[in-house]
Amino acid sequence: MRFVAAAALAAGTTAAAAQTPAEQIEAGRRAYTSFCARCHGINLVVTSSAYFDLRTFPGDDKPRFVRSVVEGKRAMPAWGGIVKPEQIEAIWAYVGSVNGWPAAPQ
Ligand code: HEC
Repeated sequence: MRFVAAAALAAGTTAAAAQTPAEQIEAGRRAYTSFCARCHGINLVVTSSAYFDLRTFPGDDKPRFVRSVVEGKRAMPAWGGIVKPEQIEAIWAYVGSVNGWPAAPQ
């Protein structure tokens, strides 16, 4: 089944409901790289203290993450109209996988 889902994704069909945790993390990594990495750094390795270090974000505060990303915060732009809700979910899963949060999907 995993291969079927992966093939469907590779073919560009929408298979969001059938997405495995690994696929969600990969989708999050791609979205993060497109939208976030220019400020927050490749693999969350931030290069300037002007930008929040996402490796220090509290893993138990997803509501704050979603709110800050959707609405923006000070110098951080609002992403609500640009990044889709399922992409924010995927970015959360990706950040959790990089940070090794116990609750993150493996
Ligand atoms: C133009 C640069 C820039 C981009 C692009 C950017 N950010 Fe930020 N981000 C910032 C800055 C600056 C802050 C620090 C805001 C502050 O607290 O003053 C920040 C803070 C954050 C925070 C912490 C907010 C909090 O609650 O303290 C999160 C989470 C975050 N960014 C996620 C993201 C995600 C996810 C993306 C991609 C969708 C993204 N950022 C893209 C500049 C950016």
